[in-house]
Amino acid sequence: MRQPLVAGNWKMNGSRESVAALLEGLKAGIGQVGKAEVAVCPPSIFIPQVEEALRGTPIAWGGQDVSTEASGAYTGEISASMLLDFGCAYAIVGHSERRTLHCESDELVARKFAAARGAGLKPILCVGETLEEREQGVTEQVCARQIDAVLDREGVAALADAVIAYEPVWAIGTGKVASPEQAQEVHAFIRGRIAARDAGVAEGLRILYGGSMKPDNAAELLAKPDIDGGLIGGASLKAGDFLGICLAAN
Ligand code: PGA
Repeated sequence: MRQPLVAGNWKMNGSRESVAALLEGLKAGIGQVGKAEVAVCPPSIFIPQVEEALRGTPIAWGGQDVSTEASGAYTGEISASMLLDFGCAYAIVGHSERRTLHCESDELVARKFAAARGAGLKPILCVGETLEEREQGVTEQVCARQIDAVLDREGVAALADAVIAYEPVWAIGTGKVASPEQAQEVHAFIRGRIAARDAGVAEGLRILYGGSMKPDNAAELLAKPDIDGGLIGGASLKAGDFLGICLAAN
């Protein structure tokens, strides 16, 4: 059985004060969350604050992005070993906002995946199609291309220490959630594609859904056999909403 994972992607939100309040809320409620693993991915400047507050709790934390490089003259970048040094367990790679706004290619994302994993972080590899691509009927090709960039570079065994998040771009931050059937169809496709290379890795791999997941739509999505958790944006900024989704994962 795969343990569900619910990860919050705070994106570029928060202040020292609001982060403190959110962490207090999460710590107060985490005891009621049964079987799901819970993680938060704050803006990197808040990672020390998150580490301080969450150390010794069951809540893990991670980075929203990671450099391809280990160290050196890369202004503004943060390396995987730095994230690890501050207790991170995870690093999101290839979020659609990075692919679009920062022009990150499949190849670059695969290198970030490799850097994160090489340092001992669990990469959360985001994949997903735009609305235009869905309407053209190329959803599966897009997800396959994004995943194959990692598989071809790192080999299928690399996914044993990783997580995939299927996030249809048209559902991110729009309030337009994929139907449980739409999401399940793509999740099953992704698992099948990985199973073609290694059935054991595919069986153990957690595939999260992301895109306007909220407490009131989480249960039906998470009930689907190939949906193993969520990557939560907007709803991860309110402790009550985020914990509500974590509870729905049980
Ligand atoms: P959303 O974001 O939950 O606000 O749609 C999800 C994500 O971008 O990971």
